[in-house]
Amino acid sequence: MSRYLLTDALPARLSRRSLMVSTAAALFGYSARALGETGHSPPAYLLMSDPFRPQSHLLPPHGWMNDPCGPVFANGTYHLFYQWNPDAAVWGNMHWGHATSRDLVRWEHQVVALSPQPDGPDSSGVFTGDVVLDGQQAIAVYTGLKTGRAPDQVQCIATSDLTMTHWRQEAYPVLPVGPPGLKIRGFRDPKIWREGDTWVMLVGSSIENQGGVILRYEGRDLRDWSYKGIFYGPSDLRGGDDALECPDFFRVGARHALIFSINWVVHVATGDYVNRKFRPLTLDALGYGNFYAARSMLDAQGRRTLFGWITEKPWQAGAAADRGWSGVMSFPRLLVAGPDGKVRSHLHPSVEALHGEILFSGSPKEPVTLPGPCVRIRVRFDASSAGELVFSRTDRFLHLDYNPQKTGAEVSCNEDTVPLSSSRSAELDIYVDASVIEIFTSDGSALNTRAYGDPGGPFTLKNSGCFQNADYEICLLKPVSGNRLTGIL
Ligand code: FRU
Repeated sequence: MSRYLLTDALPARLSRRSLMVSTAAALFGYSARALGETGHSPPAYLLMSDPFRPQSHLLPPHGWMNDPCGPVFANGTYHLFYQWNPDAAVWGNMHWGHATSRDLVRWEHQVVALSPQPDGPDSSGVFTGDVVLDGQQAIAVYTGLKTGRAPDQVQCIATSDLTMTHWRQEAYPVLPVGPPGLKIRGFRDPKIWREGDTWVMLVGSSIENQGGVILRYEGRDLRDWSYKGIFYGPSDLRGGDDALECPDFFRVGARHALIFSINWVVHVATGDYVNRKFRPLTLDALGYGNFYAARSMLDAQGRRTLFGWITEKPWQAGAAADRGWSGVMSFPRLLVAGPDGKVRSHLHPSVEALHGEILFSGSPKEPVTLPGPCVRIRVRFDASSAGELVFSRTDRFLHLDYNPQKTGAEVSCNEDTVPLSSSRSAELDIYVDASVIEIFTSDGSALNTRAYGDPGGPFTLKNSGCFQNADYEICLLKPVSGNRLTGIL
């Protein structure tokens, strides 16, 4: 997939951190630039002390992360799998990493779940897929990549007991080719669920000269599938091979929602689902900024819970490869129906467990000093006029601007924007976790951006305009591990 190769080729921008890594690398006798390229990760102590590495989000112990796979809840444990390159912080050699949690926020790394099998249908990569429970078994259905084969992407299957730590990847794909008679390009990212005694599978694809589609299959069991037609599309959205990536489908409120990703945007269509057919009524972005390939599950209380991949900025690809890690999993989000039937995203309440000591509450009369860039800043303000928030040490680590004149992009933060309606009691809930920023708006939208400015504390928070007489609550964010989740497995 060319887009990864393109970003990999971007020149490295020398940041303070990559200079630190280069210095340490010189001291310990290896080349920092070669870390990403030769398949060796920097030692854990460098990752642990990397001030850009978040401490309250899930990310792999080292290397590259992209899409969430699964996720699934079984026997009181949440299992989140993810696209992982354990060898380097660049896309390639995809595996499924695995993390488990009892509360959706404190994660533990497990041994790698799925890896390319030299003689298998996935010998060039284990791509995105889903996990379902069938009695006492967990079944992963995923895309196996084998370059040079036609088609290079096929749907494969692996089984485990419910610990999900002992996977057996099967030698034969369950879908070795696409639908008969269709000239398809991509064929990947299966999503599975059960309807009565039928299993349903959606696969992301695109039809030559037509556009992205989502294909529907049905099966009495998880190995024997029949093609049932185009579930969604062709779409006129374009990107990469035009495939609609990472489909997901579920009921929300009175409607059904279909999620898919293309060209760095997660989309959500809502509509009716009657006689196994989806009739879309609306199409919107689900999340703004650095957020991609989102996938959901039901949590222990049956709430629709979404995770997505928080990407690096493309101009940071080289620096991230030097730092030895790239990509982060978002905090869990709750998806609910708004009064108009469309899908709203809110921060999942489990994240409140990460709120630490309260550093400030009320309306500050002068800039607030904060120890560093791992904080939550909740601000309630009158959104009928413009204003600015700047959170930084020497440069503008986080620069947020609200301007009700900028229709559809009222809030901008660093390089990304999100709409916000001009209510007199708007709220932004801002999570800064080192280089990762997640902002939840009172309208039920979410913005992800990244901060690669000077991460050394202490920081100050300055405000102007509508953020001046606003109401704040600022607290520390608790780390989810003592070592920024760098435990080497
Ligand atoms: C989305 C995606 C998927 C694919 C995976 C490969 O980011 O391109 O379509 O399965 O990443 O890593």
